[in-house]
Amino acid sequence: MSVNAWNASLYDQKHAFVSEYGKSLLSILDPQAGENILDIGCGTGHLSSEIAQVGASVVGIDSSASMIETARKSYPGLDFRVEDARTFVLPAHFDAIFSNAALHWIPEAERVVCNLAVSLKPGGRFVLEMGGKGNIAQLVEATRQSVRELMQREIETPWYFPSIGEYTPILERYGLLVRSAILFDRPTPLEDGADGVRTWLTMFGEQMLRDVPAEMKSVVLARIEEKLRPTFFKSDRWVIGYCRLRLVAYKQ
Ligand code: BEZ
Repeated sequence: MSVNAWNASLYDQKHAFVSEYGKSLLSILDPQAGENILDIGCGTGHLSSEIAQVGASVVGIDSSASMIETARKSYPGLDFRVEDARTFVLPAHFDAIFSNAALHWIPEAERVVCNLAVSLKPGGRFVLEMGGKGNIAQLVEATRQSVRELMQREIETPWYFPSIGEYTPILERYGLLVRSAILFDRPTPLEDGADGVRTWLTMFGEQMLRDVPAEMKSVVLARIEEKLRPTFFKSDRWVIGYCRLRLVAYKQ
């Protein structure tokens, strides 16, 4: 998550849905007392804390210093570290590695998987959810068209949203046997009512909008909203087309 200077308090106030949805992934992780669990892309630490509550020993890592600072303040008894998922070095003693809504920020999937595979014990599990193929496609397309129409510029996106077919061979190359994988639609209501799309783009869309000068921002945002409104504004809030890739793999 290195592209954005994350604002941890905006993230917690306006994007609480990220960890709320992550709770259903926790039931798949099914953490046990005494297990060592690594949470990659732990953000402000809410899910790490839930894992610790069952008596597991958790290390939470995130590349954002601001997120880790907030996590440490909220959960002072837990072990949070600023680390890059591509390069961290931790003892190879984890019973499970968990990651929710983080790995789509790192296009170098091969490096991440190679690295995390080393940290898992043989038989250990990797429980992952991330944006998958088709994630936020209409939001990205509306942004692409709006910036093209108003600025005559092309946008770049920082994300990697793989299909099952793209991601599972990477896991298998690094000795992780995929036992289940699913790509599913998860329409996601945004916080902040009628301003939901603007707030989302302020938090997450920095790279897409980087060529838009400050004085043009609100015109471009209004154009994006106009394109999305007929399909994605539901009476008093925005509901955006998220697609999740969720899988469980075991180190052999
Ligand atoms: C996601 O969780 O799918 C996501 C969040 C922020 C930006 C892009 C994707």
